[in-house]
Amino acid sequence: MNPIVAGGGARLVTRHPHLMQNYGRLEINIVRGEGCWLYDESGNAYLDLVAGIAVCALGHAHPRITRAIAEQAATLVHVSNLVHHEPAGTLADRLAELAGFDAVFFCNSGAEANEAAIKLARKHAWRAGERERNVILAAHGSFHGRTLGALSATDNPAYHEGFGPLPGGFAFVDFNDPAALDDAIDERTACFLVEPVQGESGVVPATHAYLAAARRLCDERGALLIFDEVQCGMGRIGRLFAHQVYDIVPDAFTLAKSLANGLPIGALVVRGAAAASLQPGDHGTTFGGSPVPAAAALEHLAIRDVVDLDAHVEVVGGLLRAELLAIARDFPHAFEVPRGTGLMLGLPVRDPYQAKDFVRFALDRGLFINAAGRNTLRFVPPLIISADEVRDAAVRLRLAIAATLAA
Ligand SMILES: Cc1ncc(COP(=O)(O)O)c(C=O)c1O
Repeated sequence: MNPIVAGGGARLVTRHPHLMQNYGRLEINIVRGEGCWLYDESGNAYLDLVAGIAVCALGHAHPRITRAIAEQAATLVHVSNLVHHEPAGTLADRLAELAGFDAVFFCNSGAEANEAAIKLARKHAWRAGERERNVILAAHGSFHGRTLGALSATDNPAYHEGFGPLPGGFAFVDFNDPAALDDAIDERTACFLVEPVQGESGVVPATHAYLAAARRLCDERGALLIFDEVQCGMGRIGRLFAHQVYDIVPDAFTLAKSLANGLPIGALVVRGAAAASLQPGDHGTTFGGSPVPAAAALEHLAIRDVVDLDAHVEVVGGLLRAELLAIARDFPHAFEVPRGTGLMLGLPVRDPYQAKDFVRFALDRGLFINAAGRNTLRFVPPLIISADEVRDAAVRLRLAIAATLAA
């Protein structure tokens, strides 16, 4: 176990005044990562339960991923989608084969993957001659990204403020309410876009009944069902693809985040007639699926072939959940019962306490976690986290909680 940094331990933070604001950065400058650990410029170690926001599934500096990146970088870094290249082609084949789907579009991020999904849904209806079927239905509490289209499908007024007018043709329906879906999906619905587990709104899993109703209603009424698996996919909830956990097959799903274990890549994976909706020239990207991220993603999948990560996630996810449950029981005035599944867990914080305060005190104890939604601590560690590291994290978290409550 790495030593627990004493509260307020010395931390240098080199500031770069020209770096534009983004999420709002913590006062910490990370210079290196290895496995589930991050190191700052003063040499402090942090057990990483954020994984670059659910990205580094195999941890930091995984030797096989590093090698695959280096070898591909020494061979071909970029050539564009004007030509074929093996890394993207092979990755598309692998993903299609693993999912039992037909076609894959590559881009560079989750938001872009959802943009592609939105465009695909509309073009699919348009090609079928259904010119009025253009509404993108999303769920309350959704998060699909920050580009204008994905943002329009995101139900968070704070993220919309000051960016209007947003594109039209988006509607929202209550999450986990099959009856509301029944009212909402109609002949104008191009697709229902939904996260099987809502991440940014504080880790809220969809019920099986909700997604099953979505599948049935989309089939009956001619809409596409599209799952946003950007955060909950790639093994995070215990199977490679989130829809496999639910045993419900969407018409398309999006991936990004951990697909290449840290390199930027997004993917829209499509099956059936919809797979032919985007024809040459309809949609495009200069970098999407470029050789280095594609090679990293292929190596990620190759590692999964020999390491049973799903079984591991079940064990360590169960352990982390049990630790969080015990914490919620021990501090009932501060926390509600944890939510989530696999290694995508949330610990809701009760008012008047603030998730961001626990995050700050955790950092002082060498634990990196983050806040999501209105007031939830989110735990999305590398999937390779060991049982010992989970126990270590729980010790640090309890110390951070005690310090926060005493402050
Ligand atoms: C479910 C979901 N969709 C889309 C996105 C957007 O991904 P990106 O930040 O790569 O654009 C996120 C990011 O958190 C996400 O959680």
